[in-house]
Formats: sequence, structure tokens, C-alpha cells
Amino acid sequence: MIIVSIAGQKGGTGKTTTATNLAAAIVNDGNKVLLIDADPQASLTLSLGIQQERERTLYSEYLREVSIEEDGDLDRAIVITKSGLHLIPSSTALAQTEQKLMCEYESETKLQRMIHKMKSNYDFVIIDCPPSPGMLLTNALVASDYILIPLQAEYLPLKSISGFMHCFEEAKSFNGSLDIIGFVFIKYDRRIVMSRNVLAEIENIFGDKVFSTRIRSNIQLSRAQEAGLDIFKYDPTSHGASDYGELAMEFLSRIKKMNLCHTVQGAIEA
Ligand SMILES: Nc1ncnc2c1ncn2[C@@H]1O[C@H](COP(=O)(O)OP(=O)(O)O)[C@@H](O)[C@H]1O
Ligand SMILES: [Mg+2]
Repeated sequence: MIIVSIAGQKGGTGKTTTATNLAAAIVNDGNKVLLIDADPQASLTLSLGIQQERERTLYSEYLREVSIEEDGDLDRAIVITKSGLHLIPSSTALAQTEQKLMCEYESETKLQRMIHKMKSNYDFVIIDCPPSPGMLLTNALVASDYILIPLQAEYLPLKSISGFMHCFEEAKSFNGSLDIIGFVFIKYDRRIVMSRNVLAEIENIFGDKVFSTRIRSNIQLSRAQEAGLDIFKYDPTSHGASDYGELAMEFLSRIKKMNLCHTVQGAIEA
């Protein structure tokens, strides 16, 4: 099971849209995928058509995990969305988890432990992260093998990346093998000079960590969210569907390569 956080310290960069459509594309390629909505804003939950607050959510299971009597049980919280995606929904109450976790012993590893206790079998777990630093973000990163960072080619993306790197380093102190799988440009338009300049700047610093697939601006991606569907179910002929299909292929081949590297490195160190 490979756990990937979709993260970045800025709102509106395409994290939630990427979580949904990357997950759907990986499912279409024959993998079993679980989505976790770790953002109290619950955009992922809402955009997949789960409108009502559920009794069992990520929040309810965090609460069980922090109480001593009972273990959190993520299996019980899984819902199947209209698109057929497996999702652990969020709720606005999740925001209260921040404080509860702050007062807890070993609180950074709660989500990691809950995911590893799950009985359901998935090839991938994809976590949609909140934009702000805090215990929820730290828990998601500590639980992950990889982080995928969506970026927009606009003014000062480096500033938000450097802010995010603090969270990354903190999470790495609990999970040494955490790695960035890559940066992906969202709403990219190569006709705009600033977009090209920002892309060149980021490629200059991060080299081949930048995915060569770029997600173009496509209104169908927003319409799919309004309809509670992923882009492949909503409009498989759209640019959005072809871009996310391509991103998924690049993502899967990167995962294969990086996993191989980790295995070899582990063998050398052993
Ligand atoms: N490639 C795209 N083209 C057009 N609109 C997009 C695209 N990606 C995301 N959006 C829209 O931009 C807004 C912010 O995206 P979202 O994925 O919610 O960002 P985040 O989770 O980082 O806050 C949403 O309304 C979404 O529908
Ligand atoms: Mg979001």
C-alpha cells in the first residue's frame, strides 16, 4: 500500500481537484484506491457528492483514537461515492481535532497508526490535505510515503513552497522515508509569459521533480465537482480528463522508479 498526500501551503492551487481526478485515473488503470479527506473544509467530500454530514468521518475516528477506551477504525468510515470512489469523508468538526491532538501523547502518528490498522486492502491511499500548517497536516504527511504538490504558475510560488518545506522537514523527523514525488503545474497556460517564467524558475531549482504533465485550465473540472463526479465520469473527452490521465501514467511510472530506489537503498543500508 502506497500512501500519498496531496499538499502545499496555499489554498486554491488544485489540491482537491488533483486528489479526486488522480485517484479516479489510477482506479481506471486497475488499482484499488482509498481517498481520505483530511481538510476540515471538506471540499473533497462535498465535491464527490457527499452532502450530508456522516456519523462516521475522519473526525469521529480521530476522536476514538485519542480516547483511551477505543481504537479509531477507518474501515467503518469508508463511503462509496457516486463516481464509485472509496472515500473517508471529512466534516467541519474535524477542525476541533487540531486542539485535541495538541494535548495528546504521540499525536503526530495517530493517522499513520489508524491507516496501518485498516483491514481493507488498497494499492493506494490518497490524502487531500488542508492548506494550513497544524496537526492535521502533520498527521497526513507523517502517514505518507510521498507528497505530491500542485502549484500554480503565478507570482511567488516559491514563497509558499519554502513555507511548506518546514512542515515537510518536521514530518520527516517522524517518518524518515517521506519523499516528494513531484510538483505539478495546475491551470498552466504556456501562452502566458509569467507562467513560462515561473515554470522555468521552479524547474531550475527542483529539476526533474517537476512533472512534465501540466494540467490545463478546464471549466469541466469545476463542473464535474458541482455534479459530484470525477472528470472521467463527467466528461471523458475533456482536456481535464486527458491531462489527469496523463498525470496518472507519469505518477505511476515515477512511483515504480522511486520504490525501486528505496528498496535498493534499504538493502544497501541493511
Ligand atoms: N485545471 C483547472 N481548471 C479550472 N479550474 C480548476 C482547475 N483545477 C482546479 N480548479 C478550480 O479551482 C478551484 C480551487 O481548486 P481546489 O482543487 O479546490 O484547490 P485547493 O484544494 O488547493 O484549495 C476549484 O473551484 C476548482 O474547481
Ligand atoms: Mg482543497
